[in-house]
Amino acid sequence: MRIGIDKMAFATTNDYLNLVELAKKRGVDPNKFTIGIGQDLQAVIPPTQDIVTLGATAAKKLLTPELEKNISTVIVATESGIDNSKASAIYIKHLLGLSDFTRTVEMKEACYSATAAIQFAKGVVALNPQETVLVIAADIARYGLNTPGEVTQGAGAVAMLISRNPHILTLEDTTVAYSKDIMDFWRPLYATEALVDGKYSTNVYIEFFLQTFTRYQQLTGRELADFAALTFHMPFTKMGKKGLEGLLKDRNDEVAQRLRTQLTASQLFSRQIGNLYTGSLYLSLMSLLQNSDLRAGSRIGLFSYGSGAEGEFYTGILEDGYEHYMNNIQEELKHRHQVSVAEYEKLFSSQLGMNDQDIEFDVANDPLPFVLKGQKDHQRIYEAK
Ligand code: CAA
Repeated sequence: MRIGIDKMAFATTNDYLNLVELAKKRGVDPNKFTIGIGQDLQAVIPPTQDIVTLGATAAKKLLTPELEKNISTVIVATESGIDNSKASAIYIKHLLGLSDFTRTVEMKEACYSATAAIQFAKGVVALNPQETVLVIAADIARYGLNTPGEVTQGAGAVAMLISRNPHILTLEDTTVAYSKDIMDFWRPLYATEALVDGKYSTNVYIEFFLQTFTRYQQLTGRELADFAALTFHMPFTKMGKKGLEGLLKDRNDEVAQRLRTQLTASQLFSRQIGNLYTGSLYLSLMSLLQNSDLRAGSRIGLFSYGSGAEGEFYTGILEDGYEHYMNNIQEELKHRHQVSVAEYEKLFSSQLGMNDQDIEFDVANDPLPFVLKGQKDHQRIYEAK
């Protein structure tokens, strides 16, 4: 039985920041951000959005009454949870109006957990072929104003349906997971921003990619030439380049050139949105599929990485007509609204974090279909517009 990604959709906030303006305000050469880091624009989060509203918005784009009937399980992968106990998947299931006979759960391992969620979903479908699993990767990447990580912030959600006879990508059997107890990036329970050893994290990322890819090659006997493209977790687009070049070294033949060209296609959306943590690899996949002309039957490699740290390399085979099962991201990004650095700084500080006060937000200017209205008696109040 073929199992894999049947449909995908992406959602981000309506506001964005131009990183050339941020560079000027921070006294940094803009080329450092646009070339050195590889980021142009960054999604900005208004207080009326969080992982629940973004996750529900992405999922709404791919659901139809017919597809909804088969959803047995909703898994939300995130490291920006809104509650230490209750799963964000329950709020999302409610906002989407899915049946109460649905399993709902949240998964965590930094940016890696959406890949674990897909493996979990694959297992559910293998045992119950008539069922579909809704996997949502939703995050808000926050490092803090005036920190080295600031340029690598971002926000958004990717929703995916995992089912038999998928329309986008059939997952192949061999996957290689790799984990080690290290401290490259973490967020203690009392912190609203991540702590990070940035340079160390980039080195560990590359090491994990090489470990998992080499083991994959040993297990399958496959060569680089067997791949139409490799996609990467992309906390910032230069990171994907560092991963690929770590593998290619000085190789410059036709295969290497093809993988470089496809990498550029996979970076385009991340450049305009920023880091999505759990959703980042899957936004790269959507970017590749919407900005290249890969043929059905092509093999795509996916490298997932989450700090702490865990990596996984796995592969899928592209299905005929895949382009009809995703929302058109470039078109949707055209309608975003640019904010100034001053507005971004104000919005950054007004997000609902560890604050225990009752609060009500003005939701009138937020065009997304789901909004966070505020907090009352320690409960977040959501609205479907
Ligand atoms: N023109 C062009 N390039 C320039 C430049 C200029 N004027 N000035 C600097 N650069 C280049 C540098 O040469 C460097 O390039 P290389 O990395 O290729 O050498 C690049 O810009 C960045 O410069 P610095 O190393 O000086 O940057 P920094 O010290 O400000 O920090 C960072 C960069 C470590 C990535 C930081 O942004 C950070 O901590 N980010 C968050 C952590 C992160 O994303 N880690 C990724 C792996 S962990 C992970 O993937 C999980 C996750 O999502 C967090």
